[in-house]
Amino acid sequence: MCGIVGVLGTHEVAPILVEALKRLEYRGYDSAGIATVNNGHLDRRRAVGKLVNLSDRLVHEPLAGKSGIGHTRWATHGAPSEKNAHPHRTGSVAMVHNGIIENFRELRAELAAKGVVPETETDSETVAMLASYYLDSGKSPAEAARETVARLEGAFALAFLFDGEEDLMIAARKGSPLAIGHGDGEMFVGSDAIALAPLTDTITYLEEGDWAVITRQGAEIFDMQNRRVNREAKAIRMDATRIDKAGYKHFMAKEIAEQPTVLADALGAYLDGNKITLPGADLDFTKIDRLTMVACGTAFYACLTAKYWFERLAHLPVEVDIASEFRYREPPVLPGTVALFVSQSGETADTLAALRYCQEKADKIVSVVNVETSSIARESDLALPIHAGIEVGVASTKAFTCQLNVLLLLAIKAAKERGTMADSDIAGLLDQLRALPGVFNAALDRDTTIETAAQKISEARDVLFLGRGMMYPLALEGALKLKEISYIHAEAYASGELKHGPIALIDKTVPVIVMAPHDSLFDKTVSNMQEVMARGGKVCLITDAAGAAEAGEGVWQVITLPAVDERLAPLLYALPAQLLAYHAAVAKGTDVDQPRNLAKSVTVE
Ligand code: M6R
Repeated sequence: MCGIVGVLGTHEVAPILVEALKRLEYRGYDSAGIATVNNGHLDRRRAVGKLVNLSDRLVHEPLAGKSGIGHTRWATHGAPSEKNAHPHRTGSVAMVHNGIIENFRELRAELAAKGVVPETETDSETVAMLASYYLDSGKSPAEAARETVARLEGAFALAFLFDGEEDLMIAARKGSPLAIGHGDGEMFVGSDAIALAPLTDTITYLEEGDWAVITRQGAEIFDMQNRRVNREAKAIRMDATRIDKAGYKHFMAKEIAEQPTVLADALGAYLDGNKITLPGADLDFTKIDRLTMVACGTAFYACLTAKYWFERLAHLPVEVDIASEFRYREPPVLPGTVALFVSQSGETADTLAALRYCQEKADKIVSVVNVETSSIARESDLALPIHAGIEVGVASTKAFTCQLNVLLLLAIKAAKERGTMADSDIAGLLDQLRALPGVFNAALDRDTTIETAAQKISEARDVLFLGRGMMYPLALEGALKLKEISYIHAEAYASGELKHGPIALIDKTVPVIVMAPHDSLFDKTVSNMQEVMARGGKVCLITDAAGAAEAGEGVWQVITLPAVDERLAPLLYALPAQLLAYHAAVAKGTDVDQPRNLAKSVTVE
């Protein structure tokens, strides 16, 4: 969630750190700070709020030095304030942290007995306090950092700097990602390749429990048992780390608009004619009895959608679970189970923990990820990239449709291998899938109609989304998108559930967004829609031309999409859901790309 960067450089480091933090701001934007060592002295600058506040502070109070660490925070323990902002400093140690130190209360109590008192409300400061205590007891900086790390419970990525040490940075990770970047007489650390991309093209990912002693000459990496280890240095694909809005007002708008292109790219990567080929190892669906799919947020809704596909197309039983529930429920994972984890970032703490829970139990661990170098990808037997390209907007858009795409391809592959779909049906469906990028473009052309509806919806306090069958997970996703970025309270229900309770909420102030292509379930959904309208509810119907013609009188807003095979509708109907949320947020003037309280990569549980 928080972003970390560190530089042992050959130039003034403050602007370099701020630039790298800009690229990490998607991880958290409650406060930011940097620390440097200059002429042997540690100093730091911090500011609450967005990074621009730190940049302003640095104009008036510059910070010199060629060695530095920086941090952009998503608050867990302690309010977003300058005092609680990183880097934390105790005595001769400055430190930045991403994660949660679970035993910080015990450590604080122990340190208090030794006269070391905290200045902040954070768990993170305890790390600096402990390292400073070890330093004061005569340990070297590396020993102090190592002993500190050994005492920590929870999740962490850490970077330390020390007074009097201009050519030393210590990094450590457990549970939260951290990479080391290699330069020419310079070295870097960063939460991810995106942060380091302009600085280096070669990075080494620290593995679980690793810690590293870094100087300008290189890095010595040690594992949890303090054995010296070699970790592979990898080249970064620079094209995969480019971040710009390309003329759009928001990253979210750009990412919505990119969907036809990225979908076509992803199809190209997986389809060889009508053969679905997976990168790396194959997955033989004839040997699989069931799928257990686990994810969070939007990725969870992609899994819910895929359940319909796997069950309907491949007759494969599927369980879908929210990672934060799955990981602590200790569910049995029976032989014949493939455990499948979906994550844009590949770093979501709960999803990663659920994956680790399944590691010795499931026949195979498969992940569907956007970040191919992520922890989830690296810890899977088979990692399937979704090819969405970097997604910066906190609200997931193109990653969702690209996740759906890979999951649908997997379901079709399963159907082929299990003999549950005729070859001609598969060929027809794949033909339509190949045509979908063009259909996406046609749907994006409905933007003005969607914007008009969104402006009206933006005036509501509460909004309901309804969907039936595969449109139910889409309704859930639409509601999540709307509440995330417009802060309008939105709930989604399976249409058939309406009269079991939620119908009590209906009155003329509550817009009800009904997602209903003219499919085999359309008539049933229309009945539910009529029930809403009979009670004064305002229905915004998202459908196709046949659905619009059959919907009848009294619908408040109609958004008409191109007609597609009903099995492909979830991919298409994601677009108006995203655009509705986007335009409602713009109309309300919220911070679309960095909505309050959220972060892009949720690396704490
Ligand atoms: O990186 P992941 O896909 O694992 O992230 C999961 C959720 O945190 C994420 O989808 C979140 O719900 C998004 N903000 C939704 O727009």
